[in-house]
Amino acid sequence: MRLVIRLLAVALLVALAGAGTFFLLYGRDGEPERFSDDTEHFKYGSIGAEVNGYPYIVWRTLPHLFPDRAPKGWATFGFSQEPGRILPVGVSVRKYGIPRVGFNCATCHTSTVNGVKELTLGAPANKLDLGVYLRFLTDTAADPGLRRITSLRKPPNTRRELGGWIASCIATS
Ligand code: HEC
Repeated sequence: MRLVIRLLAVALLVALAGAGTFFLLYGRDGEPERFSDDTEHFKYGSIGAEVNGYPYIVWRTLPHLFPDRAPKGWATFGFSQEPGRILPVGVSVRKYGIPRVGFNCATCHTSTVNGVKELTLGAPANKLDLGVYLRFLTDTAADPGLRRITSLRKPPNTRRELGGWIASCIATS
């Protein structure tokens, strides 16, 4: 009888730990990101587009994995990049299962004018070429280089290890 109780207790603990891990990894989806400053909100706030977005870590890493195809990072395709910012203007992040990126209005409605460095918010993003951007996504998905990189090591199962895994792929590729 004691053994049964012990086994039940262990089973309960395992179930609780499993449920807790699942909740930490996939539960509690983030609210759309808001910034109290209107211009920051326009540039980096969420309009809810992350729901089907690329995983943040993949999107952030992709240009680094293909420096020959994206020599200036996302700026290669005309995205505006502010100094000190990881993501370009017009890209928001939100946890939706996992952290994902999405575009907002500033993606297509922000640019620089006449060589002036400062961004003009609301201007048409005349340098942005979403066609070339989409081709980059499909081309890199089919690139044997991606297979070479991803086959270096088995990808980890947990999000905690994913960053280190991708960093090691970049370091060894
Ligand atoms: C994928 C790129 C893209 C995104 C994202 C985008 N727009 Fe646009 N928007 C355009 C394009 C291109 C035009 C011009 C369409 C035309 O002239 O036929 C436009 C036109 C407009 C216009 C009309 C401007 C005028 O002079 O008539 C408004 C207003 C506007 N967008 C607001 C928004 C808002 C608000 C959002 C975010 C909720 C947004 N746009 C997101 C590409 C985009």
